Order: sequence, then C-alpha cells, then structure tokens
Amino acid sequence: MNILITGGAGFIGSHVVRQLVNKYPNYNIFNLDALTYAGNLENLKDIESATNYTFLKADITDEQAINSLFSKYKFEGVIHLAAESHVDRSIKEPLAFAKTNILGTMVLLNAFKNLWQNNWEGKRFYHISTDEVYGSLGATGLFTETTSYNPNSPYSASKASSDHFVRAYGETFGMPYVISNCSNNYGPNHFPEKLIPLFINNIINNKALPVYGDGLFTRDWLYVIDHARAIDLAFHKGKNGETYNIGGFNEWTNIDLIKLLCTLMDDKLGREKGASEKLITYVKDRPGHDLRYAIDATKINKELGWSPSVTFKEGLEKTINWYLDNKEWLNNVTSGNYKEYYKSQYN
Ligand code: NAD
Ligand code: TYD
Repeated sequence: MNILITGGAGFIGSHVVRQLVNKYPNYNIFNLDALTYAGNLENLKDIESATNYTFLKADITDEQAINSLFSKYKFEGVIHLAAESHVDRSIKEPLAFAKTNILGTMVLLNAFKNLWQNNWEGKRFYHISTDEVYGSLGATGLFTETTSYNPNSPYSASKASSDHFVRAYGETFGMPYVISNCSNNYGPNHFPEKLIPLFINNIINNKALPVYGDGLFTRDWLYVIDHARAIDLAFHKGKNGETYNIGGFNEWTNIDLIKLLCTLMDDKLGREKGASEKLITYVKDRPGHDLRYAIDATKINKELGWSPSVTFKEGLEKTINWYLDNKEWLNNVTSGNYKEYYKSQYN
C-alpha cells in the first residue's frame, strides 16, 4: 500500500511518519513536504534510510507537481498534515494561509479524486485539522464533533474552509474520508514559535517570556506522540465520513502552564527556585485571541479505544529533556530567519 503523508517534515507530521514507517514495514510511506521554515528533515534522521520510506520535496499548491506524483505513485491513502500552522503568522500574512491550507488541500483532493473516482474501494483521504475551527468557548462547555464552526483567526478560518472542502468531496464525489480535530499539541521537534517550545528556548537563554494579555487564556494540551497514535488509529479504524475530536482532557490557563514550566526548568537547569518566573513579561494581547479551547474526546475514546498515554507532567518533562538534549537542533532552527520573525513579532 502506498501512503502519502503531507507535512511529514513538520512537528506532528514527523511523529506520524516515524510511527507508520516503524510500525508498518509492508506500507510504502511517502513524505511530501515543501520544507518551509517549519519543515526540517533533521526531525526524521533516524528513519531516513528505512526501505519503506521516501521523501518527496513538493509544494501542495503546485497542481502540476502534485498531479504527476499521484499518477506516478498511485497513493491509496493520504494523511494530510501540510499547512501553515501558526496563528500569529496568519495575522501578519493571511493570504499565505488561504493559499496553502485551502488551495493546497483542494489540489490534493482533486488529484486523489481524479485518480480513484471510479474505484474508491480501500482508499482513504484523512485530513488533520484543529479544534480552533470551533472558535472560542466561555468558562464552561466542551467542543464536540457537532459543535458548529465559528473560526476567529485567519489560521482557523483557513482550516475550517479546508475541512468543508474535504466533506464536500465526500458528499459530491463519494470520496472516502476521515477528519480529526485536535487540541494544542506539545512535545519534541516543536518549532519555537508556539508557546511551549518558545518559552523553553527563552528560559534556556534567560530571555523575557512574553505572555499575551492577562495570561488567563485556556488551552487543552496533548502530547504529540499521543496525537500520532490517535491518527494511526483513526486512519485504520475510523469510519468513512466521520469526524473525531482528539484532546488531552488537560486544560491549563497559559499563566499556570508557564509557571509549571518555569518550576520544572529551574530544577533541570539547576537554577534557584523562582529564577525563571522572573522572566515573565506581560505583553500586548493577540488580536482576536480565543479565550478557551477544550475538547470532548469521548467519541474516539468509545469508538476506537484511544486515550492519552502520558500525563501532562510526564509529557512536559520528556519535552524539556528533549530540548536540553538537542541544543543543536534548537540552535539550527533559531538562527537565520527566525531572528527576523522574533523581532517583528515581539519588539
Ligand atoms: P508545522 O508548522 O510544524 O508543520 C507543517 C509542515 O507542512 C512543515 O513541514 C512544512 O514544511 C509543511 N508545509 C507547509 N506548507 C506546505 C506546502 N505548501 N506544501 C507542502 N508542505 C508544506 O505544523 P504542525 O504543528 O505539525 O501541524 C500539522 C497539522 O496539524 C496542520 O494541518 C495543523 O493545522 C494541524 N494541527 C496542529 C496542532 C498543533 O498544536 N500544532 C493541533 C491540531 C491540528
Ligand atoms: P500557540 O502556541 O500560538 O497556540 P494557539 O494559539 O494555536 O493555541 O499559543 C498558545 C497560547 O499561548 C495562546 O493562548 C497564545 C499564548 N501565547 C502567549 O501568551 N505568548 C506567546 O509568545 C505565544 C506564542 C503564545
């Protein structure tokens, strides 16, 4: 079976590629990635020479390149993760998000449809999406699979749009698909523009920790390897035409999470208790900042038997250890263009 994974050089994608390459020697796993600032083949060093793994450098918005790869390799399954993924960047450059997340998804859907529309048996298009499509919760309630879409950022609006196109291809062309909407991930290989890896990097370097607004925004955090396990399960056992919400049952306000991170980092770095907390700096809020996300993951738990395998404290410790053991990775991704991004976002 030829399986295409898009965005496999990124944070979540690299964990999905590794899991599938190691677990399914009988599949040919193709990792298609444009290697944007967020894509990094260093993430896959350990499996790059596996005989069931092939890397394809291509842009999902390049219709010609995508069509020719689909006709060459006849992918029977697609697990689509490639995207522009950072909310702050979507505020600065919304069009880039529309292009990759909407148009790029459509190019893939079209290539898949053109290849298999008379022979859907055993085929599947699995679209990886986010809980952010549902918008913002108040103090109570959880997102379920039937919560209506109400995206507030250009990122979440572009993901919502791509979800709709996947569903539309299912309804209109009979394409077998699955969609999952997951909460905030954290773990190794996370690009240090998102909260947890950015703050780990800043603590290591004794730099200010920029907390947006009052810090009382709430996110539901899931360890990335548990997301990869859920993706493996939903790809193989999920029902066609279904959506699965994936979450950590693990809500934290940003400020509480940051304080926990500071305490764990002080310990690991042998710093005086309270040293890292002194780096906390409240800064101007993000426009359109969603107050709270929280996932009800009952459906995937009941139907597919999935639940998170690590506690938040275990996951955070593993994550911190990974960054401390992989300073070269961190230095490589924070040199060059990262410096300019950081200046324009935080100065
Ligand atoms: P990421 O930014 O770390 O990685 C994205 C990958 O896509 C990179 O390797 C990049 O090079 C590639 N890419 C970007 N544009 C491309 C293009 N035009 N053509 C080909 N490749 C391209 O993102 P991530 O955090 O790993 O997220 C992966 C997916 O999971 C995304 O679809 C995202 O919306 C979704 N998601 C992420 C989270 C999270 O917390 N990070 C939560 C839920 C869902
Ligand atoms: P982020 O990691 O960007 O994920 P998302 O916006 O997709 O949930 O941000 C997580 C939370 O942390 C969010 O409420 C915004 C906040 N945040 C900060 O307070 N400071 C920062 O520098 C960043 C990047 C995020």
